[in-house]
Amino acid sequence: MENISQIISLTKRRGFIFQSSEIYGGVGAIWDFGPLGVEMKNAIKNLWWKKFVMERQDVVGMEGSIIMNPKVWEASGHINSFTDPLIECKKCNARFRADLMGDKKQCQNCKSEDFTESKDFNLMFKTFLGPVETDADKTYLRPETAQSMFTNFKLILDSSRQKVPFGIAQIGKAFRNEITTGGFIFRSREFEIAEIEYFVKPGTDENIFEEWLNLWEKFYIDIGINKNKLRRYEHSKEALSHYSKRTVDVEYEFPFGWSELAGVANRTDYDLSQHQKFSGASLEYFDSETNTKYLPFVIEPTMGIERIMLALLVDGFNESDGNDGREKGDIVLKLNSRIAPVQVAIFPLLSNKDELIKKSQEVLKTLLGEFRVDYDASGSIGRRYRRQDEIGTPYCLTIDFESLKNDDLTVRDRDTMKQERIKISELKNYLKTKISNS
Ligand code: GAP
Repeated sequence: MENISQIISLTKRRGFIFQSSEIYGGVGAIWDFGPLGVEMKNAIKNLWWKKFVMERQDVVGMEGSIIMNPKVWEASGHINSFTDPLIECKKCNARFRADLMGDKKQCQNCKSEDFTESKDFNLMFKTFLGPVETDADKTYLRPETAQSMFTNFKLILDSSRQKVPFGIAQIGKAFRNEITTGGFIFRSREFEIAEIEYFVKPGTDENIFEEWLNLWEKFYIDIGINKNKLRRYEHSKEALSHYSKRTVDVEYEFPFGWSELAGVANRTDYDLSQHQKFSGASLEYFDSETNTKYLPFVIEPTMGIERIMLALLVDGFNESDGNDGREKGDIVLKLNSRIAPVQVAIFPLLSNKDELIKKSQEVLKTLLGEFRVDYDASGSIGRRYRRQDEIGTPYCLTIDFESLKNDDLTVRDRDTMKQERIKISELKNYLKTKISNS
């Protein structure tokens, strides 16, 4: 695939991703997720939560609010430092992020090379708390989920009886008033972050950083991202965020070039010490083994759900060359079975035979609730396969006349296109094993 436009059109046509408020012409870089998109997003989030919260004893979850006390953003440094360099074309007034324009700056809109001086533009969305709109009532939509994990550090420590090292995990919406958008859902103004603040004893931070970086990368490969399209990018000292001692991005080779998919940062004790200073509350950890108090360092693995989703869509997108039993140009979305928005589709061989429909509906009922299931009785079987291939359905089941006699059905595998006859009594176990081993 050369560009992203085929993914944009497929995901719109099949109900994965729409422009927000499309009937009004949309709204810049904000997206809605349709029936298939929300299933795929939930699948990513659930696998992440299972891997990093449910399967671990040293990580607990939380869900913080989007609007926090505005002092949080003063303490965190976001009011002063969460900025991008903004320049404006003097001819047409179009605005750009200076650092993304390269050395020879030219307006994408009118081709002029005459720009204003660069100024710092704060990316946080502003709003007001309550009915009065003065500076004192001004607050922000959170630009990251991390801060509520710092402000709740002590409450979670005391209520969950964790000991350092331990982590707090959160998945939630974040908002950034990006100057330059694009790359479809790659750079949005509203998006979801999944991140962990992992609190460690100072001095152990550098090794634990490496461990998380490896786990982070492994997760993407495990859910189906091609490992040859992943690489690490170490931030130079000058480019580090205001809170970071070390940051490594995991980059993915998108159709528009290598770009950040996720990252791991060593935030040191920057955030806890800032919140301690601004709130007056002690956020120190008491180490009962050594009888000492200290502010933990924080290792922060973070990722954007939409960027993971886009990488999976890009990786999975295949157009048949006509040599695999499909028509040339047919689309197959090769998503991992644990991620596919529909995992199993059920077809009665003929749509006008009541006994086939009845049997298919019976099978459907046994699978609903355990798998993401679709039922399709319209058009030829070939067309139904094509419709499912396009959305990445790994298993298509067909109920035919033999099924009525033998209580079995055919399972067609999306990738091998092989068909197998399976007893209906064994179907659930068969699918569970296939999906969990994928
Ligand atoms: N708490 C740390 C933090 O927020 P970040 O690198 O600024 O770090 C985290 O953002 C992740 O969120 C990134 O790795 C990226 O995947 C995703 N992300 C950042 N800006 C985004 C945007 N405008 N649209 C979509 N995803 C974005």
